[in-house]
Amino acid sequence: MKLWQKRFRAPLDPLVEQLNNSISFDQRLAKVDVTGSIAWAGALAKAGVLTPDEGQAIQTGLGQILGEFEGNEFQFLPGDEDIHTAVERRLGEVIGPLAGKLHTGRSRNDQVATDFRLWLAEMAQSLTGDVHALQAALVERAERDAGIVLPGMTHFQQAQPVLLSHWWLSHFWPLGRDGERIAQLSQRAMVMPLGCGALAGTSYPVDRFDLAQQLGFRAPAPNSLDAVSDRDFAAEFLFTAALLGVHLSRLAEALILYSTREFGWMTLADEYSTGSSLMPQKKNPDPLELVRGKSGVLTGRLAGLLATLKGLPSAYDKDLQEDKPAVFEAADTISICLKVMAGLVATLHVHGERMRAAIQSEGLATDLADYLVMKGVPFREAHGAVGAAVALTMERDQPLAELPLADWQAIHPAFDADLYQVFDVDASLARRAAWGGTAPQAVQEQLALAHRALEASEQVD
Ligand code: ARG
Repeated sequence: MKLWQKRFRAPLDPLVEQLNNSISFDQRLAKVDVTGSIAWAGALAKAGVLTPDEGQAIQTGLGQILGEFEGNEFQFLPGDEDIHTAVERRLGEVIGPLAGKLHTGRSRNDQVATDFRLWLAEMAQSLTGDVHALQAALVERAERDAGIVLPGMTHFQQAQPVLLSHWWLSHFWPLGRDGERIAQLSQRAMVMPLGCGALAGTSYPVDRFDLAQQLGFRAPAPNSLDAVSDRDFAAEFLFTAALLGVHLSRLAEALILYSTREFGWMTLADEYSTGSSLMPQKKNPDPLELVRGKSGVLTGRLAGLLATLKGLPSAYDKDLQEDKPAVFEAADTISICLKVMAGLVATLHVHGERMRAAIQSEGLATDLADYLVMKGVPFREAHGAVGAAVALTMERDQPLAELPLADWQAIHPAFDADLYQVFDVDASLARRAAWGGTAPQAVQEQLALAHRALEASEQVD
């Protein structure tokens, strides 16, 4: 039976009923819905709206229902429009007509907004754990792959060699920022709509400050109209999930390329690869492609909710029901993607020798310009000289390191026999010693900082 059925002469058209019902997804709010109701019953009793016995009986009945949800024993019925209806219906079965007093002074509008925020705060905690686990896997990789050198690329062209540890850590820091965003948005979300009624506030003298404290909120929302329609927290979460998705997708894209036979720099573990029904030789990076693909869907979820919200006047409109499938799906998606990426990163095999062999001597061109700079040549002139040498070797189809000294000297008299020492990759790395660079010492310091950042954020959780 609908909570609002008495107002109507005819039942809802079955298709409208299907369109309207949210129980298929908002049952995920079951436990927080009951928790919110237990606190609300307490607030009504404190305000003298319920007698202490009534308050107690309602809370006991709700406690039983919470147990049913926890034990996966709760029976949903076809008439349950949404989770709020289902809980109230069950409360009636458990304690009888007294259940009808629970919704005094409350609307599903303030109720659902409260539930959703409580749910989000819990989910944020577990998602932070997922982010940390991937960060830990990346730090562990950075440690394990110490000394391996990667041909660093820009524009997907070889640029300068970098330590593989440095590269792994370049994917660690964005996740740290994502973790901060999750903590901040869930803090901001902890403002309580309960006690705002449908839109105008409640007419019963409930102490909303006390209620907020009971439920773990920072404060009660200061404006009832805003409180029932504010979905900033959902949009912020979707943005954070979308950006996390982007970060994972960028990592996935690189790993897909590096694990091709053509690159041959990495091999994914069998547990993180799939085969082909037709081509027996295939070992495909499907999990990485799914992570990359799902990041597009996550971005779409954000755009979808923002579009839903933009036309809504103040207070509640049913459009807002669309917030939940978006957030639930995004939370599930990003959580599984983070977990899979953590396992995949931890188990893949790196072929360090092939990475090093792939480094072309042109990757040291900047170092050659720096070599001239050390001899007093202005950088712009040095850049031009090395550029001319590269052009010459390209014409001759010759590696830069094999250009004879006479040719170098014809291009610029400051080149000397010691220029060939510049082609030492390890020396090139060691020169990038300024804070944040790829020199082994700088990467060690960065690694220590990454460890500290990880520990600090774990303590905050
Ligand atoms: N299922 C609804 C939602 O998710 C609950 C609030 C219903 N409020 C209402 N006025 N119909 O938004």
